[in-house]
Amino acid sequence: MIVSITGVAGTGKTVVSKLLAKELKWKFIKLDNLAKRKKLFLFYDKERRTHVVDMKRLKKEFNKESRKYDNVVTESLYSHLFPSDILIVLRCNPKILEKRLKRKYSWSTKIKENLEAEMINLITEEAMEIKKRVYEIETTHKTPKQTVKSIREVINGKTAKYKAGRINWL
Ligand SMILES: Nc1ncnc2c1ncn2[C@@H]1O[C@H](COP(=O)(O)OP(=O)(O)OP(=O)(O)O)[C@@H](O)[C@H]1O
Ligand SMILES: [Mg+2]
Repeated sequence: MIVSITGVAGTGKTVVSKLLAKELKWKFIKLDNLAKRKKLFLFYDKERRTHVVDMKRLKKEFNKESRKYDNVVTESLYSHLFPSDILIVLRCNPKILEKRLKRKYSWSTKIKENLEAEMINLITEEAMEIKKRVYEIETTHKTPKQTVKSIREVINGKTAKYKAGRINWL
């Protein structure tokens, strides 16, 4: 099974995915790291200060890698565009998210773009257009450990509380 974690920057993807994989003893594949390791970038986007991933080649590489394991946790801002059995979108109230982002990034464009994306449910909407099993977890007042507990509920079929499309900040 592939459980994929997505969400805008600062929602806790990396912290939560690592913890989840550790608890379940599942393989953790961080898509950004896989792209780096295999040098799967198209070009450097100066404005966004980031390497743009070659999605087609990364998808191929991810399929090859994930096939080696029974169970995988994967994570990325764009992981909803990759194969998965369960997709979890981590959400965070923009007021609190702003604080998390300011602690992490000093660059205002990055903060602004991610806050705006969270505000308009961007990732959830994109995900719901292409996937059936999409769930959202509100992390605002949760610890990473509590967030992992919620994800484990979803994996165990207790999905009712987490059906995507219910969180609206506006
Ligand atoms: N309930 C929570 N779940 C996850 N992370 C949380 C939670 N509460 C606070 N945090 C904190 O939010 C911060 C951002 O987490 P993290 O770096 O994992 O985000 P990310 O989604 O991977 O961001 P990026 O896209 O920038 O890599 C961390 O300091 C983390 O400890
Ligand atoms: Mg991260």
